[in-house]
Amino acid sequence: MKGIVLAGGTATRLYPATLGISKQLLPIYNKPMVYYPISLLMLAGIRDILIISTPHDLPGFRRLLGTGASWGVQFHYAEQARPGGLAEAFIVGREFIGDDGVCLVLGDNILHGAGLAEMLQAAAARPTGCTLFGYQVTHPERYGVAEIDRAGKILSLEEKPKAPRSNLAVTGLYFYDNAVVDIAAHLAPSPRGELEITDVNLAYVARDAARLEVLGRGFAWLDTGTHDSFLDAANFVQVLERRQGVYIAALEEIAYRMGFIDAAQLAKLGDAMAMTDYGKYLQAVARGE
Ligand code: DAU
Repeated sequence: MKGIVLAGGTATRLYPATLGISKQLLPIYNKPMVYYPISLLMLAGIRDILIISTPHDLPGFRRLLGTGASWGVQFHYAEQARPGGLAEAFIVGREFIGDDGVCLVLGDNILHGAGLAEMLQAAAARPTGCTLFGYQVTHPERYGVAEIDRAGKILSLEEKPKAPRSNLAVTGLYFYDNAVVDIAAHLAPSPRGELEITDVNLAYVARDAARLEVLGRGFAWLDTGTHDSFLDAANFVQVLERRQGVYIAALEEIAYRMGFIDAAQLAKLGDAMAMTDYGKYLQAVARGE
């Protein structure tokens, strides 16, 4: 399965912080925001990853992530000329996806919780259909909203409904079989002029091939859309990391635990940042501490 991180857009709601730099390159506590969505792909076992961003911001992502070789993954890069909607990821990424299934994650989505890696690996292993993740929120009208029956079957999906039928938001993490390429290619733009991910998901619902996993109380799905929620997300990561001494979305550590690199390679990555707690943490993990 292939992975796509969609990290474009203009992030006008975070101006002036994002006037000079892409939102997804800003730090959430001690690491760039884009590390968090990439961690989800790597935990799912995905090693072939396409980063999509604006022509202006893509060089920043290349500088940050490079080829991925030192983490045992492969990063590819593609431009989205203008923000034409989330489903455009499958048009921009068509060649990259080829005949495979694909997991799309939005570059500003932060998800954390026990058992998440197993859920992600199970979703990646499903050969057909799509898997979405639902999360209970207090303001569902800001998101794609799913209505499900008692058995978990999706009854409706709506993008930012004025009168939401439930408080279950659809997170920005989506697993699809290869049919998504064709579905996206035939989508018509919505009234706001975007190719909507919700329309892609509705096509799967119509085929009875959509599955929604509800992420319960033990999970955190954090918003980074405003200055306050951005700071809240950073504080959340700081509290957990300091309290437990275990890092969230340290990609070098994930590469090691997933078997993409060995302990010697991890130690080398730690050595290169030994002046920071982050580097020292990687060195300790490599020593098996
Ligand atoms: O975060 C989950 C939500 O993401 C879902 O519940 C919604 O169904 C889905 O439409 C999306 O809603 P947003 O309002 O968050 O979408 P937004 O337009 O803000 O885009 C999300 C991220 O993707 C943002 O960081 C910018 C980036 N983006 C967006 C568009 C439209 C792109 O890179 N390219 C684009 O064309």
